[in-house]
Amino acid sequence: MSESKLSTADILAKIRAAKPAASSDAPAAPPAAEAPATAATPPAESAPTPAAKPAPAAKPGSTGDILAAIRAQGAKGAAAPAAADAPKAAAPKPAAAKPSGTSDILAAIRAGKTGAAAPAGDAPAATASPAAKPAAAVASGAPKPSVEEMLKAVRGEKAAAEVAASSPVIPVKPTLPPIPVKPPAAKDKKLTVELGRRSLLVICFSPLVLAFTSMAATSLLWLLDLARFMFPNVLVEPPTKFKIGPPSDYPLGGVSTKWLAARGVWIVHTDQYKGQNLIYALASVCTHLGCTPNWLEGEQKYKCPCHGSGFYINGINFEGPAPRPLERVGIKLASDGQLEVDKSVKFQEEMGQWADSNSFVDGTLA
Ligand code: FES
Repeated sequence: MSESKLSTADILAKIRAAKPAASSDAPAAPPAAEAPATAATPPAESAPTPAAKPAPAAKPGSTGDILAAIRAQGAKGAAAPAAADAPKAAAPKPAAAKPSGTSDILAAIRAGKTGAAAPAGDAPAATASPAAKPAAAVASGAPKPSVEEMLKAVRGEKAAAEVAASSPVIPVKPTLPPIPVKPPAAKDKKLTVELGRRSLLVICFSPLVLAFTSMAATSLLWLLDLARFMFPNVLVEPPTKFKIGPPSDYPLGGVSTKWLAARGVWIVHTDQYKGQNLIYALASVCTHLGCTPNWLEGEQKYKCPCHGSGFYINGINFEGPAPRPLERVGIKLASDGQLEVDKSVKFQEEMGQWADSNSFVDGTLA
């Protein structure tokens, strides 16, 4: 503070002295400390003559600002050059507000310097912006870029930004995944099944369907009856004539029931009808209403179970409602010596037909 007034020569000498000193203590002061110093004094270093330096240095800031910064630096001493550089860097900043092209360039350079000073020795951070590259190059001792190079760099950056802004952005159509098909719910299936059942019931029980069904069933029955008519019943009856064996098989005084069940006749060998020894066949049909009487061996009679009619061994009725004697059927001695019965011929006693020779066989042949 003792050196309140410095001459122009002293100022220039301090600037020249500060430059090498700032470049020599690089390890102690990172590029962040050097960049503001170089930014604050680029015109002074680029021009070899002291008289020419102040003129270009006046562009970014006033001469008073530069002098104030130098005086502040001198006041703080050489022990803390880095700390004094920060205000220096802040002092020229107002010049960055100038709208001219050169002003923009300088503002960009200063911004690069401040950007390089902020990380305090972080060199990659200083290379982040293209405008900081010249400042970093100056700080590292590289040859200073010319104004035209800086303009080209800035214009190239602007052009790239304009091109990037003006280039149409082709929207990339995103590829959507296929929409999965929703499977039918169980409820829909149940509803479909229920509707199907209802429709089936409505169709089955509609009057038209019932009418056609009835007609078809009737036609089927008619066809079945017609088929049955094509195959008429065949009545299979035993033959009316049949052989019952030789006369010796039927002893006198006996009634054979051997052919009662199969042929419906009794074979009688008796001598109780008019004292004649005869063998004949009696039909087992009650003359009252057609029931089948039973032969009672102990009582020697035929007894009808229906109304109690009774007949003697020779067939003459004697009790009950039966109006007439039992009927005889034809019998004869066949050529083979057997008795042959013919049920197709009947003989009635009340009609006098028992006297017919075809209604009996001589019992003496037995
Ligand atoms: Fe034999 Fe009436 S049918 S008694």
